[in-house]
Amino acid sequence: MGTFSKDFIFGTATSSYQIEGAIKEGGRTPSIWDTFSSIPGKVVNGDTGEMACDHYHRFEEDIEIIKSLGVDSYRFSIAWPRIFPEEGVYNPEGMDFYVNLSKQLLAQGIKPFVTIYHWDMPQWAHEKGGWVNRDSVKWFKEYAQACFKALDEYVDMWITHNEPWCAALLGYHQGVHAPGHTNMDEAVKAAHHIMLSHGEAVKLYKEELKLEKPIGITLNLSPIYAASNSQNDLLAANNMDGYLNRWFLDPIFKGKYPEDMMNLYSKYVHSYEFIQSDDLELISYPCDFLGINFYNRQLVEFSGASDFLYRLAYSDYPKSGMGWDISPKEFKSLIYRLRQEYTQLPIYITENGAAFDDVLEEDGTVHDTDRKQYMEQHILAVAELNQEGMNIAGYYLWSLLDNFEWAFGYGKRFGIVYVDFETQKRYVKDSAKRYAEIVGARKI
Ligand code: FCB
Repeated sequence: MGTFSKDFIFGTATSSYQIEGAIKEGGRTPSIWDTFSSIPGKVVNGDTGEMACDHYHRFEEDIEIIKSLGVDSYRFSIAWPRIFPEEGVYNPEGMDFYVNLSKQLLAQGIKPFVTIYHWDMPQWAHEKGGWVNRDSVKWFKEYAQACFKALDEYVDMWITHNEPWCAALLGYHQGVHAPGHTNMDEAVKAAHHIMLSHGEAVKLYKEELKLEKPIGITLNLSPIYAASNSQNDLLAANNMDGYLNRWFLDPIFKGKYPEDMMNLYSKYVHSYEFIQSDDLELISYPCDFLGINFYNRQLVEFSGASDFLYRLAYSDYPKSGMGWDISPKEFKSLIYRLRQEYTQLPIYITENGAAFDDVLEEDGTVHDTDRKQYMEQHILAVAELNQEGMNIAGYYLWSLLDNFEWAFGYGKRFGIVYVDFETQKRYVKDSAKRYAEIVGARKI
């Protein structure tokens, strides 16, 4: 049993490319995800975000659904190519969509929580080198400034970037996300520029624009465990923790990169001169909160044949539909570690949820017991963490709607609302009803 104070924020989350569709409307130009998903073999089933959930046209219906959940807040992201369809060309029509969305949310008593970058970089920026080019910091700053100016009066809180690890490492090292490169040197530079652009944006917001809403960044953190206590497996776990977690936590909270990882990466990154003298100070510019997207723990073992000496190990934990370990206990351990080693800032769980194979019944119901259970376990963990003084300020369920799950296309359903992608009809799943109950009672 756990309870939540009246100030605790319950919400639900989405992102622009995953739900909007309307890729050619309102002056929008292509993003790297339009390009990437149109290359055969990159996304399961050849799916793209062309239609997605058609949220661009159906946002009013979607706001009704959010309202019916009784949540305090809705987290969404802005599509950069709607705002700057070309370098230096501001598109007010693109911004109007988000002004309107925010106003209508507010009218229903729902607080807009806005992510500025959730991976849909404009194709024009990519063609000029994307995040590997240091100019990306300048482009992002201009884009962030336009968002702050147009939306700050409506927005409750700001997130600069969603999961820089995915944008940089999945996009430029593993090649499974846009732009699909497999080059570690590029990935490390991309990560650096993304974090630098975060720092620039926060500084701009606070120092130049003197705006006052809370602003922060969202990291995807996953506690890493060694498959055994052998020296080899412990080394493997250390390296994966460095690759996924510390490479971002250390610069943001400690103003330095982890040296063990710099050494390991130097096989691919032959010079660190792209890290200029004041960069780390900017990257660690003080924020107001830390956002965390939590899905699973990971178990690893030593592998001499892999780049960084680790590979995923067999784990006997129960799994979600992504094959990810369901691990609410380790979620709590992650928070303890953050409190001990990194920060006392308020923490928002900006995403948590699970994909499972849902069945839409003839009567329009979806009995997603697995998802309901996953959600309950993690919300209970949040309540317990707060009883222990861990200061989790909010929880956002991922996701409001089934949507375009990146390289997995529409096959992986994370929504608490089922979307029939043929008809665009929405069906509220059992998990959504249960979530509304928890939010209403502020009790689990
Ligand atoms: C996170 C992303 C989000 C969604 C979930 C399942 O990494 O931020 O867009 O894909 O995973």
